[in-house]
Amino acid sequence: MQLTPLHIRGGRELSGEIAIQHSKNAALPIIVATLLSSEPITLHGIPRLSDVSTILELLNHIGTRHAWNGPNTLTLHTPKILNTDAPYALVSKMRASFIVLGAILARMGEATVSMPGGCAWGPRPVDQHVKALRAVGAEVTEDDGHFGAKRSGSLNGSYTFELLTVGGTHNAILASVLGDGVVTLENASIDTDVVDLIEFLNSLGADIQGAGSNTLVIRGVPALRGGEYTVIPDRIEAGTFMILAAAARSRLKLTNVRLDHLTAVTAKLREMGVEIQEEGTSMVVDARNRELIPVNVTTQSYPGFPTDVQPQMSALLATVPGTSVVQDPVYPDRLTHVAELHRMGAKITVSGYTQVIQGAPLQAAQVKAADLRAGAALFIAGLTTEGETVIDGVQYLNRGYERLAERLRQIGAYAVQPEAALADAMD
Ligand code: EPU
Repeated sequence: MQLTPLHIRGGRELSGEIAIQHSKNAALPIIVATLLSSEPITLHGIPRLSDVSTILELLNHIGTRHAWNGPNTLTLHTPKILNTDAPYALVSKMRASFIVLGAILARMGEATVSMPGGCAWGPRPVDQHVKALRAVGAEVTEDDGHFGAKRSGSLNGSYTFELLTVGGTHNAILASVLGDGVVTLENASIDTDVVDLIEFLNSLGADIQGAGSNTLVIRGVPALRGGEYTVIPDRIEAGTFMILAAAARSRLKLTNVRLDHLTAVTAKLREMGVEIQEEGTSMVVDARNRELIPVNVTTQSYPGFPTDVQPQMSALLATVPGTSVVQDPVYPDRLTHVAELHRMGAKITVSGYTQVIQGAPLQAAQVKAADLRAGAALFIAGLTTEGETVIDGVQYLNRGYERLAERLRQIGAYAVQPEAALADAMD
C-alpha cells in the first residue's frame, strides 16, 4: 500500500521517555512456532506492525485462527493444518515467512513454500535452511519457484551451519521439535531471537538444549501443549532510539530494554562520547554535554554490532565531524540509505561494503526509504536538521516501528503524516 509521506522537522532537542516495543524479529518466528501445537497459545508483547499482519495472513491460510485480546496480546490456535503450502503472494511480502517450511514439515510431514526472492538490498540466500533440513533427513526439492520438503519419519542427525544464520537456525529448530529423533545443530546462531524461540518452545514442552550456545540439541517430543509467553524487548528498536538520542544531541530515557542485548551499540556510542546510564530495564542516553567523535563500526552477528542498526549508525556518523568508517559484511549490499543521505548533504563514499563518512551538518530534503532500516536512518537524519524532510516509503517503516510518528511526537519531535492523520480522524 502506498502511504502518504512522513514529514520530519528537526534541529530541536528531544526529551522524555520512550517505551521500547517488544521484538519484531523474535515475535515473527514465535508466531510461526505456534503452528506446532494444536492447542491455543497466548502471546504478550506482540508489536502491531505490518510484518505481524503479513505473517498472520499466511497463518490464516495455513489454518490458524487468531484474536487480539489487548493492544499487544494475541491468541493463536491451529487445531488443524488446512493447507501445507505457503503461496508466493504471501511469502513474497516477507522473507521471514520462509520458516513456515520447517513448522509445517514438523506438524504434517510435508510442506511447500514459494521461493522468497531477493530484497531491496540484494540477495538473501536460503541455502543453509535447505542444507540443514536435508542433513537431518528431510527430502527437499526445488522447482517451479517452490521448495518442497517431506520426511518419512522423525528428523534425526546433525548439521554444522557453514555460517551463522538466524533464519536458518529457526527453520531447522522448528522442523526438529516434534517426533522421536535427536537433531544436533552445530555453529547454530546464538542470536537473541533464536534464544527466545527456544525458550518459547521449551515452555510448551519441547526439549531443546543449548540455547545461547553454538550447539543445539533438539530431542523430538510427541506434541506441544498450549501456553502463554511474553516476547523479549526489541533490541533493534532500542538501538535505533539510542542512536536517535545521539544524533539529535539530546537526552532520552528508554524503558523496556534488555541491557545485556545492547552491549555492542552501548559500547560504540560511549566510544563516541555519548553518556549512557543503565538501570534495570531502562537506560538514559545523553548526548548533550560533549562533542561527539567519529568511530569505526563493523557489523557482526550477535553479540556484535547489528547490521539492523548499521544504516541508522551511518546517519548519525554523517553528522559527526571527522572521518568514520562503517563496514557491513553481514549484508554487503545494505546501502540503500546512502543515496538518500546524499540528498541531505551527507558525505559518504562507498567501496564494496565499506562506507567512508566525512561528518558535516545535514540539510532537510525529500527522500525515499527503500527498506525498513534505511527508513530509520532517514528519520534520524531528518531529526538532526532544521527544515522539513519528507520521507516517502512509510510502508517500510510500518513493518518495524509501532506508531512511529506518534511516539516521536511524545519525545518532542515534529513528525506527521498529514493525510494519514486526517484519515484516522475520519474513522
Ligand atoms: N545466509 C546465507 N545462506 C542462508 C541464510 C543466510 O548465506 O541460507 C547469509 C545471509 O545472506 C547473511 C547472513 O547469512 O549474510 C545472515 O543472515 P540470517 O539468515 O541471519 O538473516 P535472516 O534470518 O534472513 C534476520 C532478520 C534480519 C537481520 C538478519 C541478520 C528477521 C525476520 N530478520 O534475517 O532483520 O538483518 O537476521 O541479523 O529476523 C530487519 O529487521 O530489518 C531485518 C532485515
